[in-house]
Amino acid sequence: MRGIMEIQNWKEILNPYELAVDEIVLKVQHIMKEYSDQGVYCPVENVIGRVKSISSILAKAKKKNVPMEMITERIEDIAGIRIICQFVDDIYKVVEMIKNRSDMEVKGEIDYVAHPKDSGYRSYHMVVMYPVQTAFQTHTIPVEIQIRTLAMNFWAVIEHSMKYKYDYNLPTRLSKRLTAASEAVLKLDNEMSSIRDEIVEAQTSFREKANIVHDILNALRNLHKVAPQEEVMELQDQFFQIYNQGDMEQLRRFSFHLEHVAQIYRMKNNTF
Ligand code: GTP
Ligand code: MG
Repeated sequence: MRGIMEIQNWKEILNPYELAVDEIVLKVQHIMKEYSDQGVYCPVENVIGRVKSISSILAKAKKKNVPMEMITERIEDIAGIRIICQFVDDIYKVVEMIKNRSDMEVKGEIDYVAHPKDSGYRSYHMVVMYPVQTAFQTHTIPVEIQIRTLAMNFWAVIEHSMKYKYDYNLPTRLSKRLTAASEAVLKLDNEMSSIRDEIVEAQTSFREKANIVHDILNALRNLHKVAPQEEVMELQDQFFQIYNQGDMEQLRRFSFHLEHVAQIYRMKNNTF
C-alpha cells in the first residue's frame, strides 16, 4: 500500500479500510447467526464498524504530531470495530475467538477492563492485522477492535459526547461525576454477572431435575412389570412425597434406591 496519505486521493486510500470493516462486521454477524440457529447463547450482543472520517484522521495526526506520510502506518484506528457483549465474561470469550482466527493476526492488545483508565474508561482493545483484496491489490491493514459490555458502552458513549461538547476540557465537577458513574457501571456489571451465574445454575438444576424424574418414572414403569402391585404403589407414593418436598438430593437418592430394587427383581427373575 502507498504509505503516503495523499489528501487528494483519500477516498481511494480509505477504500481497503472500508472493505476490512465491512468484511469483519459481516463475519461477526454470521457467527451471531450460527449461535442463534443452534439456540446457543452468543457472547456477542452487537457489532458495529466504522471508518474514521478524513477530518478526524487529520485532527488526530495533528494532535499526535504524525507527519502526513506516516498516517497510515501510525494511526491504527482508521478501521474500527466495536463488539458489544452482555456480560464481562463474554468479553474474554470474544478475545479468545479473535485470537483463534486464521484470517487476522493480533498485533497488540490492552485490557482496560482489568485495568481501567483514570477516567474510569473500561474496554478490551485489540489491534489486528487484516488482509483485504481490492480490485488491484492486496492490503494488510490494522483494525482496532474494542470489546465492551452494554454498560461500559453506555458510559463510554456518554463520556465521549461530553468530552466532545467541552472540546476535551471537561470541567472538574463533570469529570468527577463521570468517574463516579463509572464506579456504578462497574458495580452494575458485577451485579449482572452474579445474576447470570444464578440463572445458568437454575437452568442447569432444572434440566438435572427433569432427567432424574424421567429416570424415576421409567424405573417405576419397569418395576410395574416384575414387582408386586402393592410394592410399586408404595414406591410411587414415596416418589410423590419426595417430589412435593422438592429436595434434589432426596430425589437423587430415591432414584438410586429404585435402581437397586429393580436390580433385585432382575436377579430374582433372572432377566438380565
Ligand atoms: P487514541 O489517540 O484515543 O486512539 O489513544 P491511543 O491510541 O493511546 O489508544 P487508546 O487505547 O487509549 O484509545 C483508543 C480508543 O479507545 C479511543 O479512540 C476511544 O475510542 C477509546 N477510548 C480510550 N480512552 C477513552 C476514554 O477515556 N473515554 C472514552 N469515551 N473512550 C476512550
Ligand atoms: Mg488508538
